[in-house]
Amino acid sequence: MSDIDISKYLTTEYIGRNVVHIKSTDSTNSLAKRELNSENGTVFIADCQTAGRGRNGKSWISKNEEGLWFSILLKPDKKVKELANLTLVVGLAVVKAINKLCNVNAMIKWPNDIILDDRKLCGVLCESVVNNGHCECIVCGIGINILTTCFDEEISKIATSLKISTKSEYSREEICAIILNEFEVLYIDYLENGLKNSISEYCKNCITIGKEISLVTNKENKKALAIDVNNDGELIVVSDGETITVSSGEVSVRGLMGYV
Ligand code: BTN
Repeated sequence: MSDIDISKYLTTEYIGRNVVHIKSTDSTNSLAKRELNSENGTVFIADCQTAGRGRNGKSWISKNEEGLWFSILLKPDKKVKELANLTLVVGLAVVKAINKLCNVNAMIKWPNDIILDDRKLCGVLCESVVNNGHCECIVCGIGINILTTCFDEEISKIATSLKISTKSEYSREEICAIILNEFEVLYIDYLENGLKNSISEYCKNCITIGKEISLVTNKENKKALAIDVNNDGELIVVSDGETITVSSGEVSVRGLMGYV
């Protein structure tokens, strides 16, 4: 029996109807991948991760219950390349849920960081297990800083929590459930239609569009103006007078003035 009870807030059909809550694990994404025989939509929540993982091989600090660290196990009947931009849908679900519940104006930094007060509130890491090009499962990992008041030195200038930004304390259960409620609606539509129906709402909530940014690859840093995100979830930028399209696997984006 789980002692985190999200069911009282949940309106989903199947996502989050099975919850595995664990005090401590290496990473809820890794746990979900080890438990890939669990039912579609199972959610793995940990109070603490000893080896939480972020994008681009970075670690994700999640050493106590001050945040919500969880992963959704999904088993869509799709090829993995058809799911490349699912990560944007997760970002959109998180921003909609946080803004509704906490009455704030959080935004998405393309592709899926959630930003509040120009600082990072939440990160998303989607990973897949693939067999002959077919997706056996996709794991969407979400980390949200909720009650943290003091961050480790290395992220203290770029991170925020709901407690710091809103001065209020929100429950992990409620936030988790509201995200899953938003996510299931978007996900069902995404499986049928890709980003076509959700991209305009994504763009309205995307802080990167209209910003001067630096595109960072392992070869170079290139200044650019972000102008749009297309139906494939790629960022469209103008750099040196040329319009280019970049995908989230290829580059990371930095603001020219601070993190965003
Ligand atoms: C990022 O912005 O770099 C992504 C961070 C993702 C962190 C979450 S916490 C739950 C899940 N388990 C992990 O190891 N990572 C994700």
